[in-house]
Amino acid sequence: MENLFEKHMAKNTVFLDKDIISPHHIPKNLPFREKQINEITQFLGPVLNNSKPNNFFLYGKTGSGKTATVKHVLEQLDDFVKTHDKKVCSSYVNCRSHPSKYKVLLKVLRSTITEKDFLGYSSSFIYEKLLEYSNENAIHQILVLDEIDKVKDIDELVYSLSRGNDELKSGSITIIGISNNLTFKEKLDPRTKSSLCEREMVFSPYNATELKEILKERIDKAFKFETVKDEAISLAAALAAQESGDARTAVMLMQRAGEIADSQELTIVDDTLVEKAKVSVEEEIIISMISTLPEQQQLVLYAIAQLSAQNPTFTKVNGEVEKGVLFSGEIFEAYLTLAKKFDRRTITSRWYRQYINELEMYGLILVTNSGKGIKGQTRLIKLGFDPMKIKTVLEKELFKNF
Ligand SMILES: Nc1ncnc2c1ncn2[C@@H]1O[C@H](COP(=O)(O)OP(=O)(O)OP(=O)(O)O)[C@@H](O)[C@H]1O
Ligand SMILES: [Mg+2]
Repeated sequence: MENLFEKHMAKNTVFLDKDIISPHHIPKNLPFREKQINEITQFLGPVLNNSKPNNFFLYGKTGSGKTATVKHVLEQLDDFVKTHDKKVCSSYVNCRSHPSKYKVLLKVLRSTITEKDFLGYSSSFIYEKLLEYSNENAIHQILVLDEIDKVKDIDELVYSLSRGNDELKSGSITIIGISNNLTFKEKLDPRTKSSLCEREMVFSPYNATELKEILKERIDKAFKFETVKDEAISLAAALAAQESGDARTAVMLMQRAGEIADSQELTIVDDTLVEKAKVSVEEEIIISMISTLPEQQQLVLYAIAQLSAQNPTFTKVNGEVEKGVLFSGEIFEAYLTLAKKFDRRTITSRWYRQYINELEMYGLILVTNSGKGIKGQTRLIKLGFDPMKIKTVLEKELFKNF
């Protein structure tokens, strides 16, 4: 019998180096981010002259290249430090996987002092050890806290680190915070805000032309010569530009289109394959986005999905009937009932409005104002995706412990 892997390896593929079109890959060249790269380099520059850089906060929509850009500059810094014997040390933490002060500090310490794992030590021990490391060796530490909005006790984390920094006799600690949550900054304690956001940088979304250029560069290296049609690249770029200018979506669309080509034993990737890729990529992105929302926000979204599934209709002033449009107030009521049913604490209406704003920003819902006449001024809310699909994803997330 023929070996399974012989058969697998003999299969034709459109890819030359598939990793390059994976969203986890960080390309050496980042088109349209030269300005940001230069600016971050300027910000961090003082550390090489033995002085502490300002803390800074970097934000922008998902897929706008924040992580890729910062990692790129950090890599360059590390290379320079190694060859020029500078007392600088950098750590990168993705706070999604380390979502508390304790976990962040533990991760930083373990990547700084690699000989020990520090498991089981108290939070204060870890914190002191981190300061001691800078103080005794006169080391400047750069801590990149990516997806910083995921840290539960963010105010305490930033406060401790800045206070710690002030106490250091030599060396320093600089925080670079990154977030795609555009309203996160407003939720911070004013003291945290002023210490984290000494400087700020915004990453704007890419437009379709930029996305096409970015894709072309990666496709040239990832796919075999002339296997990808120009129309396929244009479509992927246009779709991703619509989806908030997200380079991750663009890259994922091309990766998936290539995989579909391979599975159907096709030798050319054209726009019909990108269309097919769109359905599965969209689903994957929604699932990953929903699974990182805080539980209370998941409950709000669940209330919206549940009400939308019941398919209420709404008659506009001009007599037009629209499906799936909900009143903000009825969602809040449904949310309260759900929270009670599942024995969860409930959020105030102020927080509820904040959560609705964020869900809109993530593109999960559409919000419009009713205009005068309907129950006074109220907000009308519509789910951006199929309610049954959203419900299924949320049920898995919310009720896994029931
Ligand atoms: N200028 C660029 N050139 C090439 N690839 C890019 C560029 N910008 C982003 N990408 C690619 O797009 C994907 C997403 O980028 P990145 O992870 O940096 O986004 P992000 O802004 O950190 O998003 P999120 O807020 O979701 O974390 C990655 O695969 C990255 O390599
Ligand atoms: Mg990122």
